[in-house]
Amino acid sequence: MKNLIDKLEKNQILSKEEFVRLLAISEKDDIDYLTERAKCVRDDIYGKRVFIRGLIEISNYCKNDCYYCGIRRSNKNAQRYRLSKEQILSCCENGYELGFRTFVMQGGEDAFFKDDVVCDIVSSIKERYPDCAVTLSLGERSTESYRKMKEAGADRYLLRHETFDNIHYNKLHPVELDPENRKRCLRDLKALRYQTGTGIMVGSPYQTLENIAEDLLFIKELNPEMIGIGPFIPHKDTPFKDFESGTMEMTLRLISILRLLCPKALIPATTALGTISPQGREKGILAGANVIMPNLSPKEDRKKYMLYNDKLSDGEEAAEGLNKLKESMRKIGYEIVEDRGDCIALKDR
Ligand code: 5AD
Repeated sequence: MKNLIDKLEKNQILSKEEFVRLLAISEKDDIDYLTERAKCVRDDIYGKRVFIRGLIEISNYCKNDCYYCGIRRSNKNAQRYRLSKEQILSCCENGYELGFRTFVMQGGEDAFFKDDVVCDIVSSIKERYPDCAVTLSLGERSTESYRKMKEAGADRYLLRHETFDNIHYNKLHPVELDPENRKRCLRDLKALRYQTGTGIMVGSPYQTLENIAEDLLFIKELNPEMIGIGPFIPHKDTPFKDFESGTMEMTLRLISILRLLCPKALIPATTALGTISPQGREKGILAGANVIMPNLSPKEDRKKYMLYNDKLSDGEEAAEGLNKLKESMRKIGYEIVEDRGDCIALKDR
């Protein structure tokens, strides 16, 4: 198994079958070796620095009906909310004070946030905080929309492909969501020179190791600047309520594989990882992640952005808990920095 890990580190592409074998590793020695190589590569490239992003969840209205997601349109129990421009700017103000230099505006696909509305907010943030990066995570939009938002100043965009396999994609989403459109969006974002993020849920219903192997090959080809993965966690008001969560072990293994596959990528230790295990975030960093995204949304709305059961939104997950988060990173030898935290690969292009 070590030869596969070495091969991956040397940037020799593995076949789908080899990825499947790597994903199935179970010997402690092999897992330790994988984790150690990923951590070394991460430290070589990004040092002991951990970047933070202030996550602002701007709306939980969504026109989509993804079977896994707690803010799907059919969930009548979701209490819907949307932030005003003023509220978003005040989140940024708060975040700037705390040391955040990236703001992530994430939301469901809410028709209220038309291009003009988003562009106006993005340009206001960039005007007030020229030293900050703005990341958008607002789902599938037209090429034109992505272009306008980039022109307004957006730097990065997050859009997980969720799964590369179209048959699997159709088991997670209703027919009106077309996996080809999702891939079109990602190609557009790359072409428009957004720092582009993609990713998957680990252990989503019906997912096989072959699916994940194909996700890895797709990611290698797309060459995204950011890769977000977290365990699937059921939400009680969705069709997938009775499925098991993805595991922390598989998520950590995949973070390490991704670090070796895309050494320069920005890879977060996600909220979902922190939610399934109290030490999830730290373990994620030690497995090769280099980003954490604390919540900057207004306190009264945080509980409403419930993508899955028991989603963390306080303690170290909250922007106000930053000191505690800093301390827990220090304990494992890492340091949270006040920096935009751009992808190192940008310097090459
Ligand atoms: N469990 C884990 N992750 C989820 N997401 C949505 N619902 C869930 C869930 N039940 C993830 C999706 C989406 C991101 C914003 O949140 O991968 O892209």
